[in-house]
Amino acid sequence: MAKNKFNQNWLHDHINDPFVKLAQREGYRARAVYKLKEIDETEKLIKPGQIIVDLGATPGSWSQYVRNKLAGKVGGGILGEIYALDMLPMDPIADVQFMLGDFREQNILDQLEAQLLGRKVDLVLSDMAPNLSGIPTADAARMEDIIELAIEFARNHTGYPISLGQHW
Ligand SMILES: C[S@@+](CC[C@H](N)C(=O)[O-])C[C@H]1O[C@@H](n2cnc3c(N)ncnc32)[C@H](O)[C@@H]1O
Repeated sequence: MAKNKFNQNWLHDHINDPFVKLAQREGYRARAVYKLKEIDETEKLIKPGQIIVDLGATPGSWSQYVRNKLAGKVGGGILGEIYALDMLPMDPIADVQFMLGDFREQNILDQLEAQLLGRKVDLVLSDMAPNLSGIPTADAARMEDIIELAIEFARNHTGYPISLGQHW
């Protein structure tokens, strides 16, 4: 009964959330897009011509945003390449190469590296969030692990020295 009440409250808040409404109006799959939009508008990260990796991409609002930013002015297609990865399936997005798998496993990293063909990545985005157990120390450790993996990937595949930014 209490759980049902919790679900009803969550649903009520979700439906009335202004960012959920805005995402629906603007055709984005999740309100998460506005986190990336804010960072991008401040830092000017995403530019046409870039090779971009989106880690933890499902349901796909970050990939949609990136795709829109790389869209060519004339006709279809994009200027650049987008590789998206998640352990959950994602409905296709035009011009986004999606890979299904767990980023902690070597085989999915190998697949991603095979697509990159040794080229440097311009931008690594990660919104990966592990399932929470409710045990704070365990959840913090899982979060830390996945963030470290993403940082290590960025260190190895971009030409940039990586430090933790103010948004982390
Ligand atoms: C907050 S959601 C991402 C939302 C996404 N940025 C968007 O805009 O639609 C977090 C995602 O991280 C994914 N994830 C968590 N751990 C992962 C892992 N080890 N490997 C791949 N994906 C992972 C989850 O499956 C989930 O889809």
